[in-house]
Amino acid sequence: MIDERYRHLYLRALPYLNTRFNDIHTLVAYKQAKRLLACYPDADESVVLTAVVLHDVGWKMVLESEQPTAFGPNMSNPFLQRLHETEGARIAADILSELDFESAKLDEVVAIIDGHDTRAVPLSTNDRLVRDADRLWRFTPAGARIDAQRFGMKPVEHFAWLEAGIDSWLSTSEAKRLAHEYLAEARRHATR
Ligand SMILES: [Fe+2]
Ligand SMILES: [Fe+2]
Repeated sequence: MIDERYRHLYLRALPYLNTRFNDIHTLVAYKQAKRLLACYPDADESVVLTAVVLHDVGWKMVLESEQPTAFGPNMSNPFLQRLHETEGARIAADILSELDFESAKLDEVVAIIDGHDTRAVPLSTNDRLVRDADRLWRFTPAGARIDAQRFGMKPVEHFAWLEAGIDSWLSTSEAKRLAHEYLAEARRHATR
């Protein structure tokens, strides 16, 4: 599922991803990033995929009992939401330095991670693709199933929440198109 080139990085990140289903979330976001990259040739694949693999390592620094307050429709603790970004940026910088990742790209990856959920305006095309890949998770079968359960939402309510979020959460037209496609499929599935 993850390309050979990024497997080592994923395995290095894995001790930080074994919380909040982030091991699965990261693989799903990676797959979405690959789909988006195919449509945006100007993006730098190595920056986007590296940032996607590492974007949520900071959640490991947030207590599991407090994580539900820091994301989703019931988010009440913006400090912890922000903390997962700043801690993620710090841990990602450590991992990439250790792996001798190109320093010019390292700074860009770390900047993307430090703000991937809270930054109002994307920094670049690379940033837009990372954010859209991350957020597309919500519409995928695994993401929708896990989120609906942890947010305590019934399918109808959950689908309505997803649909209402498409235009404000996602930035690229391809991500919006994919979100509509995934949502239509999820609705078909739910009524079967
Ligand atoms: Fe995040
Ligand atoms: Fe994420």
